[in-house]
Amino acid sequence: MDPSKVRPSSAYNSPYWTTNSGAPVWNNNNSMTVGPRGPILLEDYHLIEKLAQFDRERIPERVVHARGAAAKGFFEVTHNVSHLTAADFLRAPGVQTPVIVRFSTVVHERGSPETLRDPRGFAVKFYTREGNYDMVGNNMPVFFIRDGMKFPDMVHAFKPNPKSHIQEAWRIMDFLSHHPESAHMASFGRLTFLLDDAGIPLNYRHMPGFGVHTFKLINRAGKETYVKFHWIPKCGEKYLLDDEAVLVGGANHSHATKDLYDAIAAGDYPEWTLMIQTMDPADEDKFDFDPLDVTKTWPESLFPLQPVGRMVLNRNVDNFFNDNEQVAFCPAIIVPGIGYTDDKLLQTRIFSYADTQRHRLGPNYLLLPVNAPRCPHHNNHHEGFMNIMHRDEEINYFPSRFDPVRNAERVAAVSTAPLSGRREKVVIAKENNFAQAGARWRSFDPARQERLVVRVADMLADPRCTQEIRRIWVGYWSQADPQLGSRIAAKLQGRGCL
Ligand code: HEM
Repeated sequence: MDPSKVRPSSAYNSPYWTTNSGAPVWNNNNSMTVGPRGPILLEDYHLIEKLAQFDRERIPERVVHARGAAAKGFFEVTHNVSHLTAADFLRAPGVQTPVIVRFSTVVHERGSPETLRDPRGFAVKFYTREGNYDMVGNNMPVFFIRDGMKFPDMVHAFKPNPKSHIQEAWRIMDFLSHHPESAHMASFGRLTFLLDDAGIPLNYRHMPGFGVHTFKLINRAGKETYVKFHWIPKCGEKYLLDDEAVLVGGANHSHATKDLYDAIAAGDYPEWTLMIQTMDPADEDKFDFDPLDVTKTWPESLFPLQPVGRMVLNRNVDNFFNDNEQVAFCPAIIVPGIGYTDDKLLQTRIFSYADTQRHRLGPNYLLLPVNAPRCPHHNNHHEGFMNIMHRDEEINYFPSRFDPVRNAERVAAVSTAPLSGRREKVVIAKENNFAQAGARWRSFDPARQERLVVRVADMLADPRCTQEIRRIWVGYWSQADPQLGSRIAAKLQGRGCL
């Protein structure tokens, strides 16, 4: 055996098979039976352990974004942003930080085709010297809804019908049409992405990423700046048209995972540029949209893209289960120098990810090697299921005169912006639901405009979409652009659906 392949764990360096407890397995081929034809004896502990282990191989898949592929690499700062943020990993050009990235589709299961029309996840974990930082974004810059209260219903509508397990357009269009404050507004803008060519990226390497929410950068003096994050792929953005997707997906339902893996194995390392848009929070009321509204982009003419760094993925996963299935990204995981905003959707996400991960991976999921910080860390959390941390200290309480570990010095100011207001359950004041969707559609060339019109009409032509739902949607699209609305109406009329 090649000594370099021997792993430190004693479970792996035996030259012969063993049980999990290390007992030699003297026959890994045949069960222990009474006579050559059986029955099998319960005392065949090795057999039972082997089957029991196999029976438990699957863990709950992610409730969304179950299908994905991960890769590792580094992020390197190329431009000075230290005037904007005290984030240590952004402290100076040239600083490199290891990362793991997971790309994903959203709606369908762990083994579903990677050619489906669906948003794509773009999640990056930076292993910084001041703890991990997770930028958990998507390949589209806006989101369907503004308030996490609607997220479970939205996901139910997009997921397969619970009766038939078939994804059905009428359920999506029904849900969204019933929620004008989120559907035609929030989702509307998003649908000009999802039902556009951008709805099926060629693969993971050729897609952009976005932080989607507005976050805060906080500098050493405590000054806060609103920020939007953009990942621009060096090899360019490319998409599959619907008929191409059928062919690619028919040939290989894992084409994007294979493309990523093969490119990295061949040394053709994918690379993205991290760009930011920034805004002074004092200006937040000056526009016809709310800068914290996750259904809106910030016009690049007003907020130009500024380069920050580059990310290179130069290492494939060592083990798909360990690195892809057990990795846990969470938008709440930030570092000093980066802050949340009052975006309601972001606030909901701050709760939801760690909650689902405690369920999906167990309460000690952050001790798993792929999730653990790579900087010194210390707290009094202990025990719990599958706690693999070796702790030999006697002081597991704070404060203590026997423990020199103290509160961290404040390495960066936390947000000091004052908060006030009554308890409310309302929508935001400045919804402006249609302008950006219409502008986006008008920016397409005629062939691309027509493809969007056809895809919308296809969804609304679902026999279970009622006339009411169709009329509501034609009204929404007409408010985005009168020509867009009338062209969709004409398509539906041509099919006898309106
Ligand atoms: C995954 C919830 C909105 C991007 C997930 C997961 C949950 C979730 C529960 C599974 C996590 C896991 O099992 O590890 C929510 C909620 C949202 C929301 C409640 C709204 C309130 C968004 C938005 C984005 C996004 C706006 C993009 C900016 C992602 C990504 C993943 C994910 C990329 C997959 C992470 C991975 O690769 O493991 N989300 N999500 N989600 N979500 Fe969201």
